[in-house]
Amino acid sequence: MIEHIAKNKREYNLEKEHWRPAYHFSAPKGWLNDPNGLIYYKGYYHLFYQHNPKHCNWDSMHWGHAISKDMMHWKDLPIALAPDLPYDNDPDGGCFSGSAVEKDGILYLFYTGAIKGGNGLIQTQCMAYSEDGVHFKKYEGNPIISLPPSGVLEDFRDPKVFSVGDKWYMVIGGSVGGAEGGGDGRIYLYASDDLLQWEYKGNILESNGKLGTMFECPDMFELNGKWVVTCFPIFHPKNNKALYCVGTMDFENCEYHIEHIGTLDAGFDYYASQSFLDENGNRVLIGWLHGFSWMPWFENSGPTDIEGWRGTLSIPRVATLDKNNQLHLQPISNLDNIKTLDALEENIQITKTKHKLNPSDPHSFEIKISGNVSEIESRFLEIGLLVGNNKETKIELDFIAGVMTLDRSNSDVYTSGKVNCIFDNEDKFDLQVLVDHSCIEVILNKGRHILSANVYPEKEQTECYIRTPYKSATLRKVETRSLKSVW
Ligand code: FRU
Repeated sequence: MIEHIAKNKREYNLEKEHWRPAYHFSAPKGWLNDPNGLIYYKGYYHLFYQHNPKHCNWDSMHWGHAISKDMMHWKDLPIALAPDLPYDNDPDGGCFSGSAVEKDGILYLFYTGAIKGGNGLIQTQCMAYSEDGVHFKKYEGNPIISLPPSGVLEDFRDPKVFSVGDKWYMVIGGSVGGAEGGGDGRIYLYASDDLLQWEYKGNILESNGKLGTMFECPDMFELNGKWVVTCFPIFHPKNNKALYCVGTMDFENCEYHIEHIGTLDAGFDYYASQSFLDENGNRVLIGWLHGFSWMPWFENSGPTDIEGWRGTLSIPRVATLDKNNQLHLQPISNLDNIKTLDALEENIQITKTKHKLNPSDPHSFEIKISGNVSEIESRFLEIGLLVGNNKETKIELDFIAGVMTLDRSNSDVYTSGKVNCIFDNEDKFDLQVLVDHSCIEVILNKGRHILSANVYPEKEQTECYIRTPYKSATLRKVETRSLKSVW
């Protein structure tokens, strides 16, 4: 039945839509931001997303909808939620982000209804349900939570529902004092027995002036007996806009004890991720590969509106914890099914002269490099991507400082700047670079560090190389693969 309704094929012409990714998710048309309601339900992965089907700018938020058997090939379904009721019908608001759970075969969506009011937006937590996973009915008793715990109108959104034992929990992002007004970020915890009545239990996270003015899209999940909390702080003092905490949780007393804090992805464009369990019990995260204008490093939304779409999602990433409580996020293995090996080079000498890599699809490819730092005499590597027309995107690995940089200052005529992250400098290293027309994901040391960014190269930017700035380097393995379109 669901297969019957799902649209089998999109009508793209990748020739005309040159920046449209070939293997990352984008909306068929219009604007996309956060992934919502991710769930494996009745044999399909369901992906909902913040969406404006009418044009390529953020307004009147809908929930777009697609399904997949492998999280790579998606089929579009009709829009799941549209802003059409007094508590969610507003061009400056709509059906904001949220999550999904299954109970007794029914699919429940939790979202924030947002309309103008007070000094900004009135944000209430709402529910919709479906028996077939396609048609959704908004609950007659909405909103199910109308005010934050303070009892006054504040930023209060993005309910993520999960279960522990026979209890349902919901985390909601908030702010005491307002995201824009220099407020203090909060993640609130609510509990329920029936998904309808919710009781406030306490706070999972409080910024106390240190972590930002509002925590968007909070999430909470168990990994190896630890509890991971993720959220997307507005105005984090050190610009950690994709925060994760690892710790222990006492749900009875609502006490979260943090043991480690890190960054999910330090690139320009990674935000509002959500997690879910795949059919094999792996914890998978998908994020939005773009950003908003309030972000200090944000310049513009890029040129893809010319092609009638804007916004992409990351490759689904599987989360694991290492012995130091650090999160590793690695692309799902189903990504391998669309790859073709173009070249495998072993024990190669790299010098100042560019060593060219030649993926057969120069806009949709993967490069994997592995080696030992002790064999990199230069202790420095440069990787040039999407090179041509005097433009290039550069990745630099500085093994002395332990810094990885993604440099898009000369990538195209739309973007600029560099981002970097500090990595643990062990002898063995491996780097995976995914390039997909206008998306780049740079993944170091098995997902321990990631830098993601959008770039908008011209068609002629087709070259790719590795070099050292001085001396030489021996690389154990360099693999070049092309990736097929999933559309
Ligand atoms: C994060 C966010 C959410 C909100 C949604 C609106 O990107 O601002 O907090 O629910 O986008 O589209």
